[in-house]
Amino acid sequence: MVFSEKILQNVNVSYRNFSKNKIVNQAVSESSNNIQKSLKILLVLLTLGTFLAAGYFFLNQADPYTKQVLSLPGDRNKGEMIFKINCSACHGLQAGGMVGPSLLDVTKRMSKRGLIEQVTSGKTPPMPKFQASPQEMADLLSFLKYL
Ligand code: HEC
Repeated sequence: MVFSEKILQNVNVSYRNFSKNKIVNQAVSESSNNIQKSLKILLVLLTLGTFLAAGYFFLNQADPYTKQVLSLPGDRNKGEMIFKINCSACHGLQAGGMVGPSLLDVTKRMSKRGLIEQVTSGKTPPMPKFQASPQEMADLLSFLKYL
């Protein structure tokens, strides 16, 4: 009798230990799930951050000419002279448009980078490709801004 009671007791104790372990195991696996989730989120954020940083870097570094133009203060009056000599035949003396479209408010429609590309690339014939020096391009940009 005494012996079988002892066995029962042992069984009880090990059952209690077993269920305690089960709860602990569950808690452990839940928290490791949470850690895994956080790590995944962190990884996604890191990847996004890397892409954004790389994009920003390339936008700023890719084209030294554009970078130089954007860093120079432009002279609006010199820009007007450059415009009259090089652009007005097609875009009109007042930039209201002739062969080429009107450039009034053009800086509201196009970014500075877009304007530099338009003037120096020659991608939209019949508008020619202009080889403006960075300073000339900066002057032109500040003139276009006041149209
Ligand atoms: C031979 C004529 C010609 C000359 C010279 C010319 N352009 Fe143009 N330009 C055009 C034409 C045509 C377009 C339209 C091209 C297209 O979108 O297909 C244009 C488009 C543009 C645009 C884009 C306008 C828009 O709304 O999309 C800008 C900005 C511009 N020219 C600026 C200039 C500047 C600044 C100069 C002088 C440095 C210049 N152009 C000289 C003919 C000319």
